[in-house]
Amino acid sequence: MDSTIVAVVTGASSGLGEATARLLATEHGARVVLVARREERLQALAAELPGASYVATDLTDPRAADAVRSHLLEEHGGRVDLLVNNAGAAWRATFADGGFDNVQRTMAVNFDAVLRLTEALLPLLRASAPSAIVNVSSTAARVTRPGSAAYSASKAALAAWSDGLHLEEAPHGVHVGVVLPGFISTEGFPQSELTANAATRWLVSTPEKGARAILDAGLGRRAERYVPRPYALAAVLKIALPAAARLILGGGPAKAMTTRTGADAADEAAASAGAAAD
Ligand SMILES: NC(=O)c1ccc[n+]([C@@H]2O[C@H](COP(=O)([O-])OP(=O)(O)OC[C@H]3O[C@@H](n4cnc5c(N)ncnc54)[C@H](OP(=O)(O)O)[C@@H]3O)[C@@H](O)[C@H]2O)c1
Repeated sequence: MDSTIVAVVTGASSGLGEATARLLATEHGARVVLVARREERLQALAAELPGASYVATDLTDPRAADAVRSHLLEEHGGRVDLLVNNAGAAWRATFADGGFDNVQRTMAVNFDAVLRLTEALLPLLRASAPSAIVNVSSTAARVTRPGSAAYSASKAALAAWSDGLHLEEAPHGVHVGVVLPGFISTEGFPQSELTANAATRWLVSTPEKGARAILDAGLGRRAERYVPRPYALAAVLKIALPAAARLILGGGPAKAMTTRTGADAADEAAASAGAAAD
């Protein structure tokens, strides 16, 4: 059998997903299936990476999972060695302001869409075993900040579900790893508030380091990888000293770490375009 890895990477049009696709293709010679909404980005990356192809789709569309599955059947005979569920987004809002609607849209992309795609590809992953799934969660799955509870809930659900899925699928040869990034500067999570300040710049990592952690959790079959690694201490603090964790996360320095996201910027741009049209 051909030993070239076939990998599906969601959210491959930017940030961690793009870096992971590049690493898989250049260091592992993998044939990567790139998935995201922005077709022109996927087309350009696929042209750069030998053996790469793409499916341009909105993963919150219930038909998206079938489109990816059909692509794998047509282009790779149904083989898939690695599924990286990386696509995700965050909208900052308190529950009082954003309400159920904000929680629902966050869960739709960060949790529901991952389950739909995994469900569609699981028979192929089992047939291709030994194979692996990497679910990109967040350190925010372990500690919650004000304005970020919907995001934390979606990423906590993803991490908890991943652990159960691993125990169910390991006997079938499908490993499930979890990656929990801290602050990484990307389009969706620019972290400009932190990088603008010399005192907090060191907190911010790179998409390439995130990609290495994703490969550790997938090809390296690690259970969990924080990136940067010291962010694991946030999870330890929350378990050992929950009241102290609340004090710290509700305090002034933590407020400075509630960063504006790309999804927030897109919402604001749409709102001002709407206002201008009125
Ligand atoms: N950067 C950080 O600090 C950080 C921290 C913790 C966790 N994470 C997680 O890491 C993952 C990658 O984020 P990133 O930092 O690399 O951000 P990013 O550069 O904004 O990448 C997000 C990717 O997801 C795709 N995407 C978003 N919504 C989608 C949808 N409905 N359907 C299909 N694709 C969709 C985007 O592509 P299109 O817009 O083209 O669809 C993009 O390729 C996310 O799950 C994020 O929650 C990031």
